[in-house]
Amino acid sequence: MMKLGVALLAATAATTGLEAQQVTFARDVAPIFFENCVECHRTNSFAPMSLLDYQTARRYAQRIKSRVEQRLMPPWHVDQTVGIQQFENEASLSDAEIETIVQWVDAGAPEGNPADLPPLPRLAEGDAWELEEAFGRPPDLIVRSSPYDVIANGQDQWWGPSIPFEGLAEERWISAYEFKPSFPLGLNVVHHGHATLRTPDGPVAFAHYGVGKRWETFPQDIGMRWPAGEGEVEWNLHYFPVGTAAPQDVVEVGLWFYPEGQEPELETRGEVLLRVDRMGGMPRGGDILIPPGGQQVIQGVHVIDEPTLVNSFRPHMHMRGKEMSMEAIYPDGRREVLSKVGNYKHNWQISYQFAPEAKPLLPRGSVLLFTSVFDNSAANPLNPDPEQWVVFGRRGVDEMSHAWVGITELDQEDFDRRVAERQAKLVSQLDGNGR
Ligand code: HEC
Repeated sequence: MMKLGVALLAATAATTGLEAQQVTFARDVAPIFFENCVECHRTNSFAPMSLLDYQTARRYAQRIKSRVEQRLMPPWHVDQTVGIQQFENEASLSDAEIETIVQWVDAGAPEGNPADLPPLPRLAEGDAWELEEAFGRPPDLIVRSSPYDVIANGQDQWWGPSIPFEGLAEERWISAYEFKPSFPLGLNVVHHGHATLRTPDGPVAFAHYGVGKRWETFPQDIGMRWPAGEGEVEWNLHYFPVGTAAPQDVVEVGLWFYPEGQEPELETRGEVLLRVDRMGGMPRGGDILIPPGGQQVIQGVHVIDEPTLVNSFRPHMHMRGKEMSMEAIYPDGRREVLSKVGNYKHNWQISYQFAPEAKPLLPRGSVLLFTSVFDNSAANPLNPDPEQWVVFGRRGVDEMSHAWVGITELDQEDFDRRVAERQAKLVSQLDGNGR
């Protein structure tokens, strides 16, 4: 039976001349995997299997097809049919790449000629700083949390040490930060983390982490101020046990500064927490109440008090989170979806960093409207128990709805200049096309 099928297939291929075009791992698929998957999918990483070798890739072929078709892998869950689509950290596959993978799986995942394989990619060590290559140097400053014993099994754990910081002699400006859990154990158990510098000058919330979101780089003329003098670094770490203990776990934050004495044009607040639930200082977000098997939609609005440049969008919900959108309502009433994460997955906290020319410019008096959808039905693959009522809470099995938005406030003159520049560019592009 089997043999006959293969023979028939070969015959068809030969007669139609498709043979030469057969999609193979070596020639067509490996380049896609090497470019888009193996930074995570390799041995000793936090991802389940290595996609560097044919045998493993073949074993996972059906699951690979399903994940890439649904655009669940590589993790990039933004809705590509609405809102801004230019990102600095774009990670999705093109339609053509997805089609190639699907054809390969459907053809029985053939290996092809190993001589066609591209060279193995150069991979950074698992515990390397991801931004080191871009900056050409390790971080200028590294701060560390104190060790915490993450148990093997149990519920969520929180760790919030305050660690004295000896202080810098001079004020410096942060151009990028990276938040690095320990490797490989910490990567599996650190659910999210925040680090805040406290000095007499006031707090600087300088680093935020969620699974899948490690670093943030600020545009060329924008930075975050790190004041001179001593203080304390306050950590807010949320660990989630995964079946393997992570003893004495320490997380690190690396900072890359602007050159000494150089002050960027604009100061940014970095990612700012905008609540979509109504927690606002209350002990619980009274508006989250999801019935067993049910859905809930909640909205939150934030008035933009100063002319603002929006750097990035990172929705945060828990296991019942399904989607979150960010809309702008401009002072003239015009309404625009800036971004929508339509396929939200709690185990991926991706910061969608808009490309420089696409970062929204919001005039004073605009409103940001966030809409979150929760799905407590059995159709949600991450739902641990559709029979439960779900309320607000900090544990992964409870819910919350936060939008982390990269915000840089501008003065009016700067704002007007940027708007004019964009318009001029648009006009010249239209002109160019017209001729
Ligand atoms: C940023 C890291 C990262 C990248 C890039 C990435 N993956 Fe994954 N992948 C993971 C992690 C972590 C998991 C396990 C958790 C999950 O399913 O989300 C996973 C799960 C999977 C699974 C499910 C495995 C199973 O056991 O069922 C498949 C299939 C998969 N990835 C394929 C791919 C392919 C194909 C690519 C590239 C086109 C890719 N991934 C890119 C990190 C990554």
